[in-house]
Amino acid sequence: MKVTFKKDYLKGFVDDSEVELLKPAAGLARDTLLARSGVGNEMEDWLTLPTDYDQDEFARILTAAEKIKSDSKVLVVIGIGGSYLGARAVIEFLKSEFHNEQAAKAGLPEIYFVGTSASGRYIDDVIDLIGDRDFSINVISKSGTTTEPAIAFRVFKALIEKKYGRDAAAKRIFATTDAHKGALLDVAKENGYERFVVPDGIGGRYSVLSAVGLLPIAVAGIDIKKLMDGAKSAQEDFAKDEDILAKPSILYAIYRNILYRKGFDVETIVGYEPQFRYLFEWWKQLMAESEGKDNKGIYPTSAIFSTDLHSIGQYIQDGKKILFETILDITKPISDRVVPQADDNTDHLDYILNKPMKDVNEAALTATAQAHTSAGVPNILLQLDDLDEFNLGNLIYFFEAAVAVSGYLNAINPFNQPGVEVYKTNMFRILGKPGYTD
Ligand code: PA5
Repeated sequence: MKVTFKKDYLKGFVDDSEVELLKPAAGLARDTLLARSGVGNEMEDWLTLPTDYDQDEFARILTAAEKIKSDSKVLVVIGIGGSYLGARAVIEFLKSEFHNEQAAKAGLPEIYFVGTSASGRYIDDVIDLIGDRDFSINVISKSGTTTEPAIAFRVFKALIEKKYGRDAAAKRIFATTDAHKGALLDVAKENGYERFVVPDGIGGRYSVLSAVGLLPIAVAGIDIKKLMDGAKSAQEDFAKDEDILAKPSILYAIYRNILYRKGFDVETIVGYEPQFRYLFEWWKQLMAESEGKDNKGIYPTSAIFSTDLHSIGQYIQDGKKILFETILDITKPISDRVVPQADDNTDHLDYILNKPMKDVNEAALTATAQAHTSAGVPNILLQLDDLDEFNLGNLIYFFEAAVAVSGYLNAINPFNQPGVEVYKTNMFRILGKPGYTD
């Protein structure tokens, strides 16, 4: 029921002696995190979120989700970066790429994410998809002034007010924002929207297990209590007094940093299920915003195999040896499908007749790991035993803890993202926002 770290494909790339060498620094990084005494410690409330969350707000999230499920065919979620990726990651990982089509069949609201670009065309398409159906809005922004979601909120606020009238629309708008300040808080108060909190001590990319992620996730019909329980179990493991090499998150932090110090500057997270795509997008944000600073950091990328084996697989196999892979695997079969009987054997598949697709997928994983490691590409293997809320909650905390330890190993603040502000401010200047024209 938790993440397992496997060294099977690291032979010849990392020695035990190198692990022992980095172990004290990793132990110190963990101790510093637990003591809340390191750089960025004001943003470390995610460490205890799985046990310290606001129970009253949690209950309100469940109630709001039930209301949306009962009166809406569509939920429009407005947010960008940390105010969006976690919810989408969890929903697609636990449901599927086709979660909206499946939701429609199951009588659950379809969920569309907007505000992630300044594309007018994308907004047009979502409005078209909603049509004349009943909908609600969850607008998520800590600042309330990020340009892309702010524009999207203007559009959808006007749409929902036109459809239902201002008062009834206000009961369909749920605002997740800062508890004390900000443009969205002001609008929410003025209009009487139900409000949820983007916690002060948790950055966007660490916020999926707060109201930021939990409301849309609950609307998708996912058990958010089990998600929190899985994270709680990882929190307890991280804090437990034991040899730190017994902790998968510490092992992951140590091994990826040994590889980084050997010149493997790029980490590609790899999965063999298409529904992992948005979890990997979330992971990329977590890793990139946490580690990419002070001209340092592993560059995070992702791939879905087998499809990407037929594109970037060529580069991984034969290109410059700058990257290592981290494979995410689910050990339990998540489908019973087998290779079917056909009228004849012209496709030469009878040698695997009735073989479970899971075995074929595992063969692809093993074959690829063997091929890539033999070409000089190290592979870390992470395993979950099932695709469910508990395992995913565990995995989310695992990655958060691992990247925090990694950040301290590289002497950077893993909890800020000053680089993101540069583009935001430039955009304000280019568009002529008052106060930013110089
Ligand atoms: O991780 C982060 O902090 C960022 O990605 C933010 O979440 C993102 O920029 C959105 O900011 P806001 O919630 O203020 O609109």
